[in-house]
Amino acid sequence: MTFTDTLLFLRAWLRDPSMIGAVAPSGAALARLITRDVDPRNGPVIELGPGTGVFTQTLLDRGVPAHRLALIEADPTFANTLTQRFPATRVLNMDAAHLGLSEPLFGSERAGAVVSGLPLLSMPRDKALAIVEGLFSRQLRKDGTFHQFTYGPRCPLPPDELSELGLEATHMGSALLNLPPASVYRFRRRTSISMAI
Ligand SMILES: C[S@@+](CC[C@H](N)C(=O)[O-])C[C@H]1O[C@@H](n2cnc3c(N)ncnc32)[C@H](O)[C@@H]1O
Repeated sequence: MTFTDTLLFLRAWLRDPSMIGAVAPSGAALARLITRDVDPRNGPVIELGPGTGVFTQTLLDRGVPAHRLALIEADPTFANTLTQRFPATRVLNMDAAHLGLSEPLFGSERAGAVVSGLPLLSMPRDKALAIVEGLFSRQLRKDGTFHQFTYGPRCPLPPDELSELGLEATHMGSALLNLPPASVYRFRRRTSISMAI
């Protein structure tokens, strides 16, 4: 985490604390954990709320080709920074809530995974649910996975919401040395019996 990135983050947080949801970029351990399960062979990848690009760099390091990585960032300053840092990726300065209304980003080839740094817990519930619903209905393959971190003590989608969305959740682990400590969950379409979290 560089001083420049911390400053960028702090400025963005001062502009809109609830949209940014953190005062500093995520650390390397959280980046490794949230991208651990992403297999570039399963299709293109969408990242939501990349900020300064900590997860983006780790996804590229894991072998996701830049042209098969779409970055969805609502903050225009972060979007500009991402365009400069990762010119071969597709950076879209937009609200992730619109993904459920837009055409699939990679055409007929749906994404194999979505990695999200969105502050789901600080959004209105309707909006958070619409984002997740939109990903599964418009952007992800049938067996595609959604990877989300949270600073909260439990799954960011409670059992009733998981059931409403037809999803199951798996706790992938925690990055206790992250500031603040964070946990990662993986969501996929429910196949048989749902798991209670
Ligand atoms: C907690 S920060 C995470 C940044 C980065 N992934 C990290 O871990 O360092 C949340 C990010 O989500 C972005 N964001 C918040 N709401 C958004 C939305 N509705 N659509 C797209 N990006 C959003 C913020 O601008 C910010 O970059």
